[in-house]
Amino acid sequence: METNDKIINGKIHADNLLKKIYPLSVDYIKKYSKKPTLAVVLIGNDPASEVYVKNKIITANKNNINSLKITFSNEVYENILLDKIIELNNNPDVHGILVQLPLPKHISEKLVIQTINPEKDVDGFHPTNYGNLFMGSPSFIPCTPLGCFYMLKKEIPDLTGKNAVIIGRSNIVGKPMASLLLSSNCTVTIAHSKTINLIETCKKADILIAAIGKPEMINEDYIKKNAIIIDVGINRIEQNDLSIKNNKSKLVGDVNYNKVFDIVDKITPVPGGVGPMTIACLMHNTLKAAFLNKKDPFINILESM
Ligand code: GUN
Repeated sequence: METNDKIINGKIHADNLLKKIYPLSVDYIKKYSKKPTLAVVLIGNDPASEVYVKNKIITANKNNINSLKITFSNEVYENILLDKIIELNNNPDVHGILVQLPLPKHISEKLVIQTINPEKDVDGFHPTNYGNLFMGSPSFIPCTPLGCFYMLKKEIPDLTGKNAVIIGRSNIVGKPMASLLLSSNCTVTIAHSKTINLIETCKKADILIAAIGKPEMINEDYIKKNAIIIDVGINRIEQNDLSIKNNKSKLVGDVNYNKVFDIVDKITPVPGGVGPMTIACLMHNTLKAAFLNKKDPFINILESM
């Protein structure tokens, strides 16, 4: 197998998805004389969140999607933030609302998510959307698991009977990912920090989704031969290769890419794997919200796959 055939290139998958989305946003503008609009709310100055938000806005602007960036200081009162969300809910020119997580400790994530109108909840985190996903009639699907699932389906159209192991039980990735894989007839295990014999569990995986947030934790010991690996981790670590000029840190995944590469069938790199797909899925969800706002049917990419 060619080395490149092993790499699941998230950038290419994302560009292909965005190519399908672009003409839909052109149609929307022609039909309704306004752009689909995404409001992104950023609280505080966490450097990673700032980068994610910047990339979301750049991609929106490139794809005919209007973006509104709303920033608050880390000390913002919870009620001020909730009032802003209500204002965005009531603004007919805003179709999608995203509040970048994590939030400062004094703000209730649960309350913030529950305040977003589910019809504008492009993150798919509102209990209504979350419940719909788990009951098998998805409305808005969280962007990171949707992106992972989209790439998996493109690489292996029939997932039936595959053993899928997800490491990480977060609301953003692990749990919704399990629901998507289950709906495609995988046998699903969610492993986490308290799992006994994690290595043994992972070694049974035909599909391994790593969403732990621990740089390069997953090495060759965890991998079944010819497994497919989706690495959701984005970790910035200090670079100790001093031969690389002006490069004090680098991004790595939760998987030690070099150590597992020869064993796996396919793997997503970091960067250039899950990251671009997450943003493409956000564009997809925003466009979907804009069409639904006009009671205009929108084909979910999952239904057309
Ligand atoms: N923080 C990390 N991932 C996400 C995401 O998908 N959505 C939001 N709102 N915040 C995040």
